[in-house]
Amino acid sequence: MDIFEQLKREHGLILDVMDAFDAYAQGLLAGSEDQHGLSPFIVFVSDYMDGLHHAAEEKILFRAMNEHGFAAEVGPISVMLREHDSGRSFTETLAAMEAANASWTGVSRARAAHAIAALSGLLRAHIAQEERMLYPLACQALPEHALRAINAEGERLVREQGPLRLELERLGLELCGRFTPKAASVA
Ligand SMILES: [Fe+2]
Ligand SMILES: [Fe+2]
Repeated sequence: MDIFEQLKREHGLILDVMDAFDAYAQGLLAGSEDQHGLSPFIVFVSDYMDGLHHAAEEKILFRAMNEHGFAAEVGPISVMLREHDSGRSFTETLAAMEAANASWTGVSRARAAHAIAALSGLLRAHIAQEERMLYPLACQALPEHALRAINAEGERLVREQGPLRLELERLGLELCGRFTPKAASVA
């Protein structure tokens, strides 16, 4: 699988989990979910989305683009990097809320739901932008030998991540099965 197909496949799972996350947030507002349900989402977002997916983009794709004339400080890569950082900030906010000992009040539920909506909105826009603009741009601009090299690096990374990747994919599918079962069964 070439690296763009791999990254898009990961986007698919991230988007499905964001649907589940939005459903969890709705449950918080309706009083049918509590703070304990937040933890597996934080694990998925931190370890799969950031730890595997964003890491592959930053260490393989963006680095190759950077080496072929795309600055990291301005232009499309800088925008994508800033959005990765914003995703980390929302996740840290949610993780701190989850780690707090006190039971959530209505205000904390609303705050968490608001942060989840902000994170999922950010990621949906970010992923659309990467698939419509950044990946096609990289495909066009990188020379053949660089594309071959990033495909090989991507495959190596996926092999190295083996069991962890499988475990996190399973977690993502479980979350979809629990919160958006119809969508999970269609997919
Ligand atoms: Fe990204
Ligand atoms: Fe991405």
